[in-house]
Amino acid sequence: MEMATYRTVVALLFCVVVLFQGCESDVKCRNDSGAEVDWYILYKLPNVKDGGLSYLYMDESTGGWRRSTEKINSRSGALANTLKPLLDFYNRKTEGFGYMLYNDQLPKQSRNQRRHTNAPSSFGHSKGVVMLDRQTGVWLSHSTPRFPTYRSKVFWPQSGNANAQTFMCVTYSHDDFREIGSQCKQKLLAYSYDSDIPKTFPNELRCVAQRSCYPKKKPWFREKMLTSLNGQQFHSFAKYKRFGDGECSQFQMLKFHVRLMINMTSIVTEQNLRHIFNSLCS
Ligand SMILES: *[C@@H]1O[C@H](CO)[C@@H](O)[C@H](O)[C@H]1NC(C)=O
Ligand SMILES: *[C@@H]1O[C@H](CO)[C@@H](O)[C@H](O)[C@H]1NC(C)=O
Repeated sequence: MEMATYRTVVALLFCVVVLFQGCESDVKCRNDSGAEVDWYILYKLPNVKDGGLSYLYMDESTGGWRRSTEKINSRSGALANTLKPLLDFYNRKTEGFGYMLYNDQLPKQSRNQRRHTNAPSSFGHSKGVVMLDRQTGVWLSHSTPRFPTYRSKVFWPQSGNANAQTFMCVTYSHDDFREIGSQCKQKLLAYSYDSDIPKTFPNELRCVAQRSCYPKKKPWFREKMLTSLNGQQFHSFAKYKRFGDGECSQFQMLKFHVRLMINMTSIVTEQNLRHIFNSLCS
């Protein structure tokens, strides 16, 4: 091949690569209308004679909690919109997409399975969904046992209806999943029950997803900043003492659940906290 032709071919290939890279990434936290958001917190209300599927929603733009017009199991709510790349992947495996589902209370993994099972007690009480493509990804920490259901578009387990549940979604860039993998392993002792992580994706995430690596020491709680795609800093919450008792007498249950969620996600911004606190106590 002549040098000029070769150069042209290389240039063309380069353009194609750039074009692909430039494609909009689908893997982002999404609100009830499917619009990308940097982060959100969702609070599913406990079942008080209404079926237990209503939820409150908050992100940067809502200025506090808003009651969603969707149901938690809806196919067009924030959860469904956020999980869409995963639900699509069940149908048709797309290249350059990876996920890990971890939960200490596992969904049934086959029709014949009679009883629910739990993760071995050496793993942490942590629950979450990690999904990413080559550009961005989502870390959705939550409190819902058996969520999401195993490889099904009907992602919401009915067993989640009765109690209040919390979800916190943050959009990160692809490279942050190295650190997220480490945190899932070291800090959360996450029990991965389903995953598919391409070989080219961060090893730290692959090994925790495949349960092929275990923390060598007791989990240590390092303070580690993670920065969301839009530059919001989320910091480790392990030693964070904010919601002192008696600060807010009403909404104790709500507070409890938010605190539980924060303990479990172990990431939250200070600004977020103030939002949560103000909206709970006003
Ligand atoms: C979702 O976000 C978009 C863009 O910020 C906004 O226009 C829309 O109103 C939001 N949807 C809901 C249901 O709040
Ligand atoms: C969250 O963690 C704090 C400190 O570790 C603890 O005092 C509190 O009881 C925990 N909250 C819940 C709801 O588990």
